[in-house]
Amino acid sequence: DETVIRRDRFSGGPAREFLSSLAGDSRIFDADLAVDRAHVVMLAEQGIIGDDVAGEILTVLDDVETAGHSDLPDGEDVHEAIESAVIDRVGPDGGKMHTARSRNDEVAACIRYRLREDLLDAIEATLALRESLLETAAEHTETVMPGYTHLQPAQPITVGHYLSSYAAAVGRDTARLLDAYDRTNESPLGGAAFAGTPFDIDRERTAELLGFDRVVENSMDAASARDFLAESTAALAIHATTLSGLAEDIVVFANKGYIELSDDYSSTSSIMPQKKNPDTLELTRAVAGDATGELTGLLTTLKGLPRAYNRDLQRAHPHTFRTVDAVVEASSIAAGAVATADWNAELLADEAGAGFATATGIADLLAMAGLPFRTAHEVVALAAEKAENAADSGDSDDGVTAAVLDAAAEEVLGESLFEYVDESAVESALDPAASVASRDSVGGPAPGAVE
Ligand code: ARG
Repeated sequence: DETVIRRDRFSGGPAREFLSSLAGDSRIFDADLAVDRAHVVMLAEQGIIGDDVAGEILTVLDDVETAGHSDLPDGEDVHEAIESAVIDRVGPDGGKMHTARSRNDEVAACIRYRLREDLLDAIEATLALRESLLETAAEHTETVMPGYTHLQPAQPITVGHYLSSYAAAVGRDTARLLDAYDRTNESPLGGAAFAGTPFDIDRERTAELLGFDRVVENSMDAASARDFLAESTAALAIHATTLSGLAEDIVVFANKGYIELSDDYSSTSSIMPQKKNPDTLELTRAVAGDATGELTGLLTTLKGLPRAYNRDLQRAHPHTFRTVDAVVEASSIAAGAVATADWNAELLADEAGAGFATATGIADLLAMAGLPFRTAHEVVALAAEKAENAADSGDSDDGVTAAVLDAAAEEVLGESLFEYVDESAVESALDPAASVASRDSVGGPAPGAVE
C-alpha cells in the first residue's frame, strides 16, 4: 500500500536519524496542521478533491492534533509523519492531501507561520522592556548621576536621561522586528517544489486562510527564500546587542553601589556568604554572543546555496528559533531587573560631580559670555590641572572652585574670570544638578527635556 511505499523511501540505513528533522519539527507541528487544513479546504473549494474526502481528512487532522507530535509515526519530518498518520486513518485517499504541493512550499509556509508568533512574542518583550525603562525613567528625571565616556566620568546626567536613551534604542529594535514580521508574513504555499503546478489552485485563498498578508509570488523564490530568517535573526541579534550594553552598565553600576538589584534578579555565592551578584545581567550580556553566533551560523548556511531547494535549509530555521527563545527570555529578564532595582540617589548625586564632570558646563558658560569656546576650554583645562596639582601636593582637596578658575583665567587671559561671568553663575555651573538643568536642548538631560 501507499503507506509502505512512502515509508520505504525514507532511508532505513545509518543516515536515517541524520536525515530526519522530526524531533525538532515539534516546533512547527501546529503550523503544519494549519497549513494542511488551509490547503485541503482550498483543494476542495477548487474542486481538485471531493468534499467528502476533504471532510474526512480534516476530521482526522483533528485526531492527529489531539494525539500530539509525540504520537506521530516515524518519518523524515513532521510533514511526512502527519501525512502518514492521515493515510493510516483515512486509507489511501488520505494521500490526496498532498495534491498540488511539495514539502518545499509546505515547510517554508510552516516556518513563516510559526515564526510570526515568535516574532510577536519578541515584539511584545521589547515593548514591555521599553515600558519598564520609561516608567523607571519617569521616577528619576531629577535623580542626578554621573555620565561616562570611555568609562571615565564625563558630564552629569540623570537616571531618567540614561534610561530613556535605552528606551529609544529598544524602540528601534521593536521597529526592526516589525519590519521582519512584515516580510515573514507572506505565503509561499502553492509554489510547490519550486516550479509551480498544473492544478488550478488558489494561492490567495490559502494565504488568506493562514492569515498571511500576501503570497510570495515567484514559485522558485517561494520555496527558496530564507532571507526572512536572516532578517528576523539579525533584528533579534541587534536587540540582544542593545540588551548587552544595558546589562553591562547595570553590572558596573551595581559594582559601584549606584544601583541595588532586587534579590529576585541576583545570585549568591556558594562559598562567600556576603556576595550578591548580578548574574541575571551577566547572562543577559552573554545572550548577545549566542544570538550573533546563531546569525553567523544561519548566514553561513545560506551563503552560496544554489536555487532552488537544498536540504541544507533543514538546518537553517532552527538557528532563528533558538535565537528568538534566548532573546525573548533575556529581554524580559532585563525588563524585570530594571523595574525592580533601587537607585542610590544620594551616592549618585555625590558622584555626579566627581572627576570635575561639570568642566564642560563651565566652558559653556564662559563661551556664552563671549569667550571663544577653545579659549574657554583652555581656561577650564588649566583650572583642572591646578586643582589636581594642589591635591597631589597635599595643599587642597577642594577640587576646581571659582577661585581656582579665576587663577587660571588670569594666566590664560590676563584678566579676571569675573570680568566675564558672575561668581554665583560659576558656583552654580559647578553644581551637578544645576549643570544638568542647564542642558535643556532637545533630547538633553534637563528634567523638562527628558519628560
Ligand atoms: N524537513 C525538510 C526541511 O525542513 C522538509 C523539506 C524536504 N524537502 C525535500 N525535498 N527533501 O527543509
